[in-house]
Amino acid sequence: MKILMVTSESNPFAKTGGLADVVYALSKEQAVLGHEVSIVLPKYGSLMQTENLQMRFIASVPVSLGWREQVAKIFKTVLDGITFYFVDNEYYFAREGLYGYYDDMERFAFFTLAVRNMLEVIKLKPDIIHVHDWQPGMLPVLIKKQNKDQPFYKKMKFVLTIHNPAFQGMFDPNLIVDFYGLPIRLYDNGLLRFNDRASSLKAAIMTVDKITTVSPTHASELLTPEGSKGLDPIINLRRDDFVGILNGIDYQEFNPLKDPNLPLNFSNRSLNRKEQLKKLLFEELNIDYHGQALYGMVSRLTWQKGINLVLEAAELVLQKGASVVIVGSGEYGYEQEFERLRARYPNTMAIYIGYNNQLAHRVYAASDFFFMPSLFEPCGIGQMIAMRYATLPIVRRTGGLNDTVIGYDGQNEDEATGFVFDEYNRYWMNLTTLFALEIYQDKELLKKLRLNTMRVDNRWEKSAKEYIALYEEVVK
Ligand code: GLC
Repeated sequence: MKILMVTSESNPFAKTGGLADVVYALSKEQAVLGHEVSIVLPKYGSLMQTENLQMRFIASVPVSLGWREQVAKIFKTVLDGITFYFVDNEYYFAREGLYGYYDDMERFAFFTLAVRNMLEVIKLKPDIIHVHDWQPGMLPVLIKKQNKDQPFYKKMKFVLTIHNPAFQGMFDPNLIVDFYGLPIRLYDNGLLRFNDRASSLKAAIMTVDKITTVSPTHASELLTPEGSKGLDPIINLRRDDFVGILNGIDYQEFNPLKDPNLPLNFSNRSLNRKEQLKKLLFEELNIDYHGQALYGMVSRLTWQKGINLVLEAAELVLQKGASVVIVGSGEYGYEQEFERLRARYPNTMAIYIGYNNQLAHRVYAASDFFFMPSLFEPCGIGQMIAMRYATLPIVRRTGGLNDTVIGYDGQNEDEATGFVFDEYNRYWMNLTTLFALEIYQDKELLKKLRLNTMRVDNRWEKSAKEYIALYEEVVK
């Protein structure tokens, strides 16, 4: 099958969150299964890992957003069996970072139009166009409304994956006409209307052939008002075409036995090396070592991730002599609060504000426990990576965290893989965090739980096959 992933992020080039990991690892696995997979994303100014890469310019594609006549330059490269296409336009994309500009709606409208226009120019005719999240959400609408009679587009089928329902691509309805050249009727008849604005996420939900989200638990949450950020009536309309497929993680990138980012590798037979790794990480970060427990976190620092809870629980265990290491960036207020915490515990806490993949690997590997008490979490990747490195996640029971972590309840030491609490509040978070510290004293039990995590299988293979089966259902 010919598959085209349309996305605003993909490893190894552009990443702010799990979306980048998922698009890339899923594509890689589908390529291994024998499919022809390409990924298209914007050519951001901040594209990473482009040194030594043969990136070829292959076409210039005219794009008109209403009266704005623009050109998209298309670049191409092949990596890990995947063909990457980059949509270049300096005005829109040669900026720092990926998002957060006043004209983001226009930037991704340009991207979406450019992808549609590019297909014919470069003669790329996928069987499946798989769009991710709101950014390319208007693509199926465009093709279905403007190109449906052209034989080139006729057989293309569409799949949408919702990675995060909190981002809905809301925009001024006038832009349906102005950017996309589509009739305002699509707003008036409700197809694109959501809470009295236009929404590119709704647009995709209403027009694709199949909709997925990234875990079975989140799929059921999206059918409820509480869990869906208001999308539930829309998803309920399409519930027969809607399914949750659990994400995996990249077992090549995250491999304790081979990870080149670690000063020391380990397996289930050399678990005691984790203590060594902790010592070395402490040296790197100027933390005093006295055999204390380490709580790690690698995360975007945003409200979704339960940072409020982490701030308080972190202080509790710091008071008891444990250590905390945080890697991530996000909301300025949170960054500042972590800085203040570090100032109070300069010898036992460290924080790295920003994106540092290599350090992140070392934190996953060296930690005893991994904070991830999300308010909501469609799937979550960090907890799976942590478990791969025998680090016990502390999670709230929500979304994919519920599907991937078995909480220790005092009796189930043969199967538990972490700590789980139900209600989102400081009481349960603090209790659970302190419970973990108790377990830290019981080295036998700790070892048992660590071995359990290392037996968990979160490879992509199974999920990649589920996606293929879904594609096959729609192309037949
Ligand atoms: C989003 C979700 C996260 C999920 C990731 C990849 O970032 O918030 O839960 O793991 O997408 O699907």
